[in-house]
Amino acid sequence: MKLYLAPLQGYTEIEFRRAWSQFFSGIDVAVSPFIPLAKSFRFRSKHLQDVIPNQNTRIPVIPQVLGIDPEKFIFLATRLEDLGHQTLNWNLGCPKKTVARKKRGSGLLPYPEQLRNILDELIPKLPIKLSIKTRLGFNSPDEFFKLIEVYNDFPLDSLIIHPRIGTQMYDGEMHLKALDQTIGQIKHKIVFSGDISDYKTYESLKTRYPQIDDWMLGRGVLTNPFLPKWIRAGKIENNEGQIRQTLYHLHEELFCEIRDKIKRERPILNKMKDFWSYFARWFKNDEAIFSTLARMDNIDDFMEYLKKVFNEHPLSQAEGRTNRQIKLNK
Ligand SMILES: Cc1cc2nc3c(=O)[nH]c(=O)nc-3n(C[C@H](O)[C@H](O)[C@H](O)COP(=O)(O)O)c2cc1C
Repeated sequence: MKLYLAPLQGYTEIEFRRAWSQFFSGIDVAVSPFIPLAKSFRFRSKHLQDVIPNQNTRIPVIPQVLGIDPEKFIFLATRLEDLGHQTLNWNLGCPKKTVARKKRGSGLLPYPEQLRNILDELIPKLPIKLSIKTRLGFNSPDEFFKLIEVYNDFPLDSLIIHPRIGTQMYDGEMHLKALDQTIGQIKHKIVFSGDISDYKTYESLKTRYPQIDDWMLGRGVLTNPFLPKWIRAGKIENNEGQIRQTLYHLHEELFCEIRDKIKRERPILNKMKDFWSYFARWFKNDEAIFSTLARMDNIDDFMEYLKKVFNEHPLSQAEGRTNRQIKLNK
C-alpha cells in the first residue's frame, strides 16, 4: 500500500509538507499543487522551489502540471528530469471555470479525442513517466467510459481518480456507483482520491475496492494530521494530551515556515487563517473558534488566542470529523 498526500493548491505546498513531516508520518509520496504551463517557455522559481528534490527529502514529491500544450509540457518535463524527477503528474481534475473554459484540467474531459491527440504527441517525446489525475468527467460521469478507452491505450504510471465531475467542484456526493461500473475496465494502477476524512471511511472504501492499493489523502490530512499514521497502523490513537501537543507543534512550525516565506504580516495572517479554516475542525467548537480567528487583524493576537484555544478548548472526535473547510456567512 502507498499513501499519497493530495495536491491542495494554497495548502500542501512545501511549507506544509515540511512542517507536517516533522511531527507526523504515514505519507509515502506527495503530488505537488499544479504548476501551470506558462505562456512562454519558462519555469518560475516559486514552482521550482516547491518541487526541488533536495528540499523534499522527508516526503518525495511528484510535480503536477496543468495545461494542454504538448511542446511546453515537454519543455517542463525535461527541466524536471534534469532536477532528478522520474514521474510527472498531469492535472485533468481542476474544476475552476477560468481553467476549464480553456479545456485545461477537468475542462478537457468532455473531449476524449483531443485528449488522445495530446497523448499521441506527448508520450513518445516525454523523457519521464506520466501519471494522470482525473475526475470521472466534466458534465457527467458517463464521460468516463470514453476516457478509460483513451487512458488504456497509453502507458501511464498510474491513474489517480477523484470520482466527482468538474461541475461539482469539491463538494457533493462522489459518483461511486459510476466508478463501480467502470473500474473493472481500467488497465492502470489506480490511486483513489476523495473524502477520506477518517479511518472508517478509508476502511469502507478499501472493502468496496479491494483492487485498489494506493490511496490519496487531501483535506483529511488538514482536519486530522494523524490520519495517514492511523491508516498505516490499522488503529486509532486516543492519547488526548499527546495529540493536543503534537497538533500545537504543527501549528507553530507551520507558522514559522509561512513567516519565513511570506515575510509581510498581513499576508502571513491571511495564510494562517486559510489553514485554520480546516484546522479549527480539530476542536469541538470549530466554527466559533474560526469565526473569532477570521475577525482578527493582528498576527500576535491571532497566535495568542490560539495558545488559549490549545490550553482550554476540548478536541473534537477524530472519527466522523468532516474534512470540509469552514466558510463563514459574511
Ligand atoms: C483547496 C483545494 C485545492 C486543490 N488543488 C488541487 C491541485 O492543485 N491539483 C489537483 O490535482 N487537485 C487539487 N485539488 C483536489 C484534491 O487533490 C483532491 O483530489 C480532492 O480535494 C478530493 O480529495 P480530499 O477529499 O481527500 O481532499 C484541490 C482541492 C482543494 C479542496
